[in-house]
Amino acid sequence: MSCSSLFLLFIFTLHIHFLVPTSGKFLPFQRCAPFVCGDQKISYPFKHNERPSYCGYPGYELDCDGGNLTLLSMESLKYQVIHMDSSEQILKVTRLDLLKDICRGTPVNTTLNSSLFNYASHYLNATLFYNCNSPSTPQPDRFSCPASGDGYFAFKVDPPSKLHKLCNFSVFVPFIPILEGSKSANISRDTVRDILKNGFEITWIANTSLCENCTKSGGRCGYNWTRQEFSCFCRDKAYPTTCPAPSGMYARVTVAN
Ligand SMILES: *[C@@H]1O[C@H](CO)[C@@H](O)[C@H](O)[C@H]1NC(C)=O
Ligand SMILES: *[C@@H]1O[C@H](CO)[C@@H](O)[C@H](O)[C@H]1NC(C)=O
Ligand SMILES: *[C@@H]1O[C@H](CO)[C@@H](O)[C@H](O)[C@H]1NC(C)=O
Ligand SMILES: *[C@@H]1O[C@H](CO)[C@@H](O)[C@H](O)[C@H]1NC(C)=O
Ligand SMILES: *[C@@H]1O[C@H](CO)[C@@H](O)[C@H](O)[C@H]1NC(C)=O
Ligand SMILES: *[C@@H]1O[C@H](CO)[C@@H](O)[C@H](O)[C@H]1NC(C)=O
Ligand SMILES: *[C@@H]1O[C@H](CO)[C@@H](O)[C@H](O)[C@H]1NC(C)=O
Ligand SMILES: *[C@@H]1O[C@H](CO)[C@@H](O)[C@H](O)[C@H]1NC(C)=O
Ligand SMILES: *[C@@H]1O[C@H](CO)[C@@H](O)[C@H](O)[C@H]1NC(C)=O
Repeated sequence: MSCSSLFLLFIFTLHIHFLVPTSGKFLPFQRCAPFVCGDQKISYPFKHNERPSYCGYPGYELDCDGGNLTLLSMESLKYQVIHMDSSEQILKVTRLDLLKDICRGTPVNTTLNSSLFNYASHYLNATLFYNCNSPSTPQPDRFSCPASGDGYFAFKVDPPSKLHKLCNFSVFVPFIPILEGSKSANISRDTVRDILKNGFEITWIANTSLCENCTKSGGRCGYNWTRQEFSCFCRDKAYPTTCPAPSGMYARVTVAN
């Protein structure tokens, strides 16, 4: 064989070995790539709501609403995901209904699905009271709602029984304390909104420690619903934990490139 045909053969081999690993034919591998929603990069245990169920751990699903909001639905409420920390298993979320208009919040308490999430440590519970019949003197925690009377944002009121009598309903909302504003007059709706906009942290319960090794080996994490266990989707097929180390030829070509 001449030198040039050897060279061609080398190029040809290089081409094949290089192409196969980079494209990846296995469908679950292709379809479970991490995705970006706004400025959040989302990955296992969460799956995009339009992706196959095998891309996520059961119960963990996010909606990439219109491309720039990351939304989590839980117990009839929608939450905007502000931040995600995979290594600490933390999501920072805020109630979308209250973010839009605190006067028209869904009359539902902020309750987590306790088989999926826990509250993270540093937060307080505020209670939002609605439809209140209250005195005309300024009240530090009071805000007014155009269509439905006064509301109260109470987090140091105890017991809040007085408000329970004055108001038609209440919902509790976890928040991270940031503002110590003036307490002499009514609080504005915007201030309440700003406090709630800051969100609160929840931790996810699913053990995702297997995912780290799968990702490191070039795989994409997934879940086999039939076998009810973790699955590592690699370019060729699914493996229980990690993708096999690449072959010698592949390794050499990768180094050469
Ligand atoms: C909590 O999440 C689990 C897993 O998705 C689900 O099976 C269960 O029905 C949820 N609980 C409630 C009260 O919605
Ligand atoms: C995306 O976010 C920008 C800035 O916050 C906003 O103006 C825009 O309306 C959003 N787009 C959609 C589709 O929600
Ligand atoms: C929220 O929970 C509190 C006590 O935990 C209760 O008094 C209140 O009625 C609940 N609100 C709604 C809207 O269910
Ligand atoms: C907030 O309220 C929830 C539900 O009532 C309760 O489980 C949790 O312990 C409260 N957290 C704090 C910090 O008071
Ligand atoms: C509270 O609810 C009752 C009965 O639904 C209603 O008659 C009353 O006007 C409401 N109060 C306020 C302040 O909206
Ligand atoms: C506080 O709210 C009450 C009831 O909504 C209103 O009558 C009063 O004018 C407000 N006071 C101030 C200082 O905004
Ligand atoms: C998660 O699973 C791994 C491997 O199965 C195990 O070693 C680890 O202890 C688990 N971690 C927790 C917090 O359960
Ligand atoms: C991940 O890989 C490391 C090194 O091979 C191993 O020590 C560790 O046990 C693996 N973690 C899990 C959860 O299997
Ligand atoms: C899940 O496991 C079953 C049984 O081993 C297998 O037939 C199926 O292809 C697996 N699904 C995925 C998405 O890997």
